[in-house]
Amino acid sequence: MFQPKVTQTKHWHFAIDVEQLGWLTINTQGAPVNTLSREAITELEGLVAQFEDLANSRELVGVILLSGKDSGFIAGADVSEFDAMSDFSVLPEALKRTHALFQRIENLKIPMIAGIHGFCLGGGLELALACHYRIAVNDDKTRIGFPEVGLGIFPGFGGTGRSIRQAGPVDAMGIMLTGRMLKAGAARGMGLVDKLVRHRDMLGWEARKAVLQKRKSGTAGFTKRIMGMGPLRGYAASKMRDEVAKKARKEHYPAPYALIDLFEKHGNDWQAMSRGEIEPFVPLMGTDTAANLRRVFFLSESLKKQGLKGAKFARVHVIGAGVMGGDIAAWCALRGMSVTLQDLDMERIKPALDRGKALFKKRLRKRYEIDAAVMRLEADPTGKGVSRADVIIEAVVEKLEVKQAIFAGLEDKLKPGAILATNTSSIELERIAEKLKDPARLIGLHFFNPVAQLPLVEVIRSTFNTDAEIGKGAAFALAIGKSPVVVKSAPGFLVNRVLMPYMLAAVERVQRGESKQLLDAAAVAFGMPMGPIELMDTVGLDVGKSVAKELGHAVGDNTQFADLVAANKLGRKSGEGFYKWVDGKAVKGPVPEGRDMAALGRELVKPLIDMSEIVVAEGVVANADLADIGVIMGTGFAPFLGGPMRARRDGKA
Ligand code: NAI
Repeated sequence: MFQPKVTQTKHWHFAIDVEQLGWLTINTQGAPVNTLSREAITELEGLVAQFEDLANSRELVGVILLSGKDSGFIAGADVSEFDAMSDFSVLPEALKRTHALFQRIENLKIPMIAGIHGFCLGGGLELALACHYRIAVNDDKTRIGFPEVGLGIFPGFGGTGRSIRQAGPVDAMGIMLTGRMLKAGAARGMGLVDKLVRHRDMLGWEARKAVLQKRKSGTAGFTKRIMGMGPLRGYAASKMRDEVAKKARKEHYPAPYALIDLFEKHGNDWQAMSRGEIEPFVPLMGTDTAANLRRVFFLSESLKKQGLKGAKFARVHVIGAGVMGGDIAAWCALRGMSVTLQDLDMERIKPALDRGKALFKKRLRKRYEIDAAVMRLEADPTGKGVSRADVIIEAVVEKLEVKQAIFAGLEDKLKPGAILATNTSSIELERIAEKLKDPARLIGLHFFNPVAQLPLVEVIRSTFNTDAEIGKGAAFALAIGKSPVVVKSAPGFLVNRVLMPYMLAAVERVQRGESKQLLDAAAVAFGMPMGPIELMDTVGLDVGKSVAKELGHAVGDNTQFADLVAANKLGRKSGEGFYKWVDGKAVKGPVPEGRDMAALGRELVKPLIDMSEIVVAEGVVANADLADIGVIMGTGFAPFLGGPMRARRDGKA
């Protein structure tokens, strides 16, 4: 009887079947996703040596690489190993070894085929690109890309050159510079993947055919390669620098710039480009930016572990179809929930449904997906969805009596175990919960405006709540693709509390005659996504004024701020605030020259950082790590500095 030849290592399983096909499966031990740790790579070296021998002795006709995990193919190198590395001088050797290994895979006399489902990222994609042919499952879960720039580095296992070889420089550099993840169809369109199948269980069969038919991936055609050639390459590189500069400064985020330099040097020769990776890669890994971005990565991963296990959500009922309620409802529908949306009458719900439709059209490609999302978002003026909902979110006007009355009317209709939540931004939860028979049920789910863009949800804990309600709230936030940070019910919670003194201090400086353009430019130079005055205009001066008052900040009556509010110049939404706004953009005058922007930037963010320290000391968030990740996600605070608490610790702010 046929006895398959089997090799089992810690992370890999290899078996040769009766057709002399080799089935190689990666299954990283003790982890939910596969990663290319140094140990996994060392084991793969041994296996590849076997493939070489077996190919020579004609005992093997091809190798099919699959993942044994439901989560996907390979999520990348093992990022935790970077942190554990105390001395990056060992990196060049390690990288050279992996380069050599991947080259040996390419040089195999027999085809090696990668079968991809789920995440195929970073080092995982680099390994797939070293294979001779790639097959991917064409479903929603497949995600292919290079997230390295988000960690302050670029691909270092030969992926820079190989992706350019397959996709041409424009597409390949585009995904490496943005970290954008592609769906299977887009990856196929670019040439990173050769063939699509509908289901994961078809990967093996298709890969078998690919081996037996000796299929081999082609390389990018002439028209795709042209931007990498001769003087065009310099032109392409300078265009790329301009694009990157719009989003990231070189002194904050050196990796994309180093990648463009590498492309400019070697972009016409994929092998030279891959070899050239190692030298600039090593110093990037040693930057504070890379260390801080890794920390941000781990902190945001840790947020994912907060949810109560086993909690399931299918139906959401939102009360209040205004700015927030409407957008929260649409977001939940986009993320697959069935949503009922309630307001006083149909007229008030209609605009929210229209905004929802626009969101679905923007975020979903296929007609049937858009139609399905539209169907999932249902107007419900009488509140019949309440008794079926797993989650109820109240987002009506910010008035205590109105909110209390709504919750009092709901309590008896709820499904047992349903989440009862308010999106209040300033009223103490305990006061809203006061009238409930079971005040422990009410939690806060504080979303940020615009809901579709800001990833943070503050899960607000009142003194009545138990861990179970909060865990369920966090699980729901995760279920709709948001990042939950648990915050105590205290005025302003975390994000508004730290933002307000920062914005108000800047407003005061403008009132004293300083240039708003200068202040905004200095804050951006520090690493904020937008300056404090532009932010105040974006939030809305009326909203800013009322939050300021709630938090006990004095906003004088005879100030420019008060005058603007009185004149209904509320910022972006009314077309004028501190700035005039045209087509959604602030019209800015020139920035006065001659100021020390770095010093000014630090001065401006000081109130934000001081308040972060106070918030941590008061226990509004459980620890400094949570303050850092919450403030980064809620305000966009300089991720390369690792958050406000870390920046202060490091003497950078
Ligand atoms: P909004 O004024 O745009 O919408 C409130 C909606 O509630 C209106 O459509 C109104 O008709 C409806 N409503 C009032 N009474 C109702 C009732 N008894 N039953 C059903 N619907 C009723 O207000 P917005 O800005 O959406 O704020 C809603 C909540 O979200 C507030 O608690 C606010 O503090 C909070 N919030 C607001 C943020 C913002 O940036 N606007 C950010 C985060 C939270």
